[in-house]
This record gives sequence, C-alpha cells and structure tokens, in this order.
Amino acid sequence: MTTTDEIKKGLAGVVVDYTAISKVNPDTNSLLYRGYPVQDLAAHKSFEEVALLLWTGELPSEAELTEFTAYERANRALDGRVKAAIDLLPIDCHPMDVGRTAVSVLGANHPLAGDSSAEAELRKAKELFAAFPAVVAYDQRRRRGLDVVEPREDLDYSQNFLWMTFGEDAAPEVVDAFRVSMVLYAEHSFNASTFTARVITSTLSDLHSAVTGAIGALKGPLHGGANEAVMHTFDEIGIDKNESREDAAVRAKAWMEDALAAKKKVMGFGHRVYKNGDSRVPTMKAALDRMIAHYGRAEMLGLYDGLEMAMDEAKGIKPNLDYPAGPTYHLMGFDTEMFTPLFIAARITGWTSHIMEQRASNSLIRPLSAYNGPDQRSF
Ligand code: ACO
Repeated sequence: MTTTDEIKKGLAGVVVDYTAISKVNPDTNSLLYRGYPVQDLAAHKSFEEVALLLWTGELPSEAELTEFTAYERANRALDGRVKAAIDLLPIDCHPMDVGRTAVSVLGANHPLAGDSSAEAELRKAKELFAAFPAVVAYDQRRRRGLDVVEPREDLDYSQNFLWMTFGEDAAPEVVDAFRVSMVLYAEHSFNASTFTARVITSTLSDLHSAVTGAIGALKGPLHGGANEAVMHTFDEIGIDKNESREDAAVRAKAWMEDALAAKKKVMGFGHRVYKNGDSRVPTMKAALDRMIAHYGRAEMLGLYDGLEMAMDEAKGIKPNLDYPAGPTYHLMGFDTEMFTPLFIAARITGWTSHIMEQRASNSLIRPLSAYNGPDQRSF
C-alpha cells in the first residue's frame, strides 16, 4: 500500500535524470547554461551564440557562428504551407494555438521527419529556431489586418524578429532588451514544458511532436502563460500614461492587497524551484527599466513596484521572470496574447537541446500511480 508520504504530487522535489544543459541553483539564485552564468551571457552574447551553446555544449568559434548565422538567415521566410494553415485558424484563437499548429505543420512537411540521428535533430532544431519568428510576426500582423513582412538577411535574429513584426527598424535599445529576454527565456532545466518534451521524446516520437507538446504545456498560466497574465493584471489596475510613478504605485499596492485578501493567485509571482527570487529577474528588470526610460513610461514602473512591494510585505513571495518580461513586451508594442509565443521562440533552443539529450541516453518516462478508486467489483 502506497502511503501519502510516498506520493510526490507535482513531482515536487523529485530528481528524474541528469542534465548537462543548465543548472538552476535556488540557494545561490543562480542559473548556468552549460556552465556560464545566464546574466553574463545576456550581457555579452547574441541569442544566436547562446542557441549554439545550448545545442552543442560550447560557445561557437567565429567560423561556426558565421556558418550558423548564414543558415539561420536563409531559413527565416514564412513557409507557404504554414501560412495557409494559420489562415484557416480563427483570428481570435489564442496565438499559442497558432504556434502549436505551425510547429506541427513544419514537422509534417520536414524531409527528415522520421530521422532521429543527432545530425538530423540538430538541423531540425536550427531550422525551427529560424522559422518560428515569422510565425509570431505574421500572426501578430494578421490580427491587426496587416500583411506579411519579408525577413531581411542584413539583420540579426532580434532585429529581424522586430522588423518582421512591426515593419520598421527597431531602436538599438529595444533590440537589445528583446535579445536579453530571448537569452533569459531560452532554458531552465526540467520545467513543465521541457519535461513534456522529454516525456514525448522518451517514447521515441519525433522532435516536432515533442516541441508541439511542450507548447501545449507552456500555454498554461502556471507556466509561460503567466507573462500575459501579468499584463492583464496591469490592465485591470488600469494603465494611465499621464499618471505619476508614485500614484500608480499606490493604486497597484491597493489592488494587490485586495487580491491577496481575496486569496487570489497573482501571476508573475512565485516559483516552484526559487523560493528567494528568480535568478533571471534582476537582468530582465534592468532591461524593463531601459524600456521604461526609452518610452518615457514612469507610471509602468509605479505599477511594477507597487505590486512587488505589496506582495513582498504580505507574503514574501518574489517575482519570477514573467513579471518583468510582460510589461517589457507590452512597451515594445506586442499585443498581450503574443507574449507567450515569444517565450516559445526563445525556449525552442532549450526544448530541442533537451530532446537531443534525452534521445542520446533514453529511458521511457513512465511513473507509477497509487490507485484510490473502488475495489474490484462485478456488475
Ligand atoms: N500569488 C499568491 N500566492 C502564491 C503565489 C502567487 N503567485 N505563488 C505561490 N503562492 C502561495 C500559495 O497560495 C501557497 O500558499 P498557502 O501555502 O498559504 O496555500 C504557497 O504560496 C505555495 O504555493 P504553491 O502554488 O503550492 O507553490 P508551487 O511551488 O506549487 O507553485 C507556482 C509554483 C505554480 C509557479 C506558483 O508560485 C504560482 O502559481 N505562481 C503564479 C504563476 C506564475 O507566475 N507562473 C510562472 C512560473 S515561472 C515561468 O514560467 C517563467
């Protein structure tokens, strides 16, 4: 008979496997990608370099980076079959449904769909990385009644992502904040979506199926969906561009006190692993601060600080990465529903790295359950 103590609800505290991809250390509030602190990578490396680091284990040489950059730029255009599939989806469906469908269509059409060799997996990962921004950009544009903007080979990943979405060159500060968000969102060990990808891979299913499943897991508000939920909170409090930082903070604080009195879970706060703050937040908050200064939106900082302070005072719960990321994407001009698809674009790197790692040392993931239904009976 299994005792309640033996059941690890939500697999909390359970170590399921080794990984050499990232190390989350809640005691020191640190996160390493292949040994490198994520804040150092965010300060000094392009997202393309970080992607190669996650996939291969090492930062690329100049020649390797040049080769990958050329490949990535050559694989950016929106696939006509993907566009046709997106056009069949209702304009008001959730953009995560669009992302999930797009990956599925790309997988069904991939010439190496059934090839799970390490070389084929890496090629599929690189192509998905290159292809996904056009999906987000097109979906954002079609929701605004706008047409596709073709990618440009003279731009890097982040510049081109913003170009395809908004049809204009983004300011260097904006490109940099976007790049930082991609680097921070790229990888985070055995979180729910990555574990989903590993479970699917463990059945010897294909890479695109694993990523499609991971997107389903990421969509939920307890995971990636929290970045858009943060913005809904800001909207519910009310954003007034003319309000002072101080007044906005007072209103946000009052909103949080009411929400906590009503026992609400406030998205963007708390973490299963970090209990004293998310290692990625200081770097993302600094990027948000730069965007607030760039767009001259001090009232957003008031809302941010007011909520954070009230939550800290009442429950001591700290913000997670989604908290500064949501308002950052809002200021850049993305619709709120597009925030979690941006998380997909970044996490494709982490997911596909885990898919390759799982594949290289596979064991079917199949836990046990304790039955608590009726005893055997006859009808
Ligand atoms: N708002 C209010 N209370 C909270 C919050 C929150 N965001 N997070 C945790 N708590 C409280 C819980 O109510 C619970 O209190 P209780 O013991 O009095 O019942 C206690 O803290 C423990 O919370 P759990 O949900 O049991 O902790 P768990 O480790 O399972 O949860 C989780 C982690 C799911 C992330 C949780 O903090 C949460 O729901 N946060 C909001 C969703 C969110 O922001 N998700 C993003 C995750 S990070 C990412 O995907 C980049």
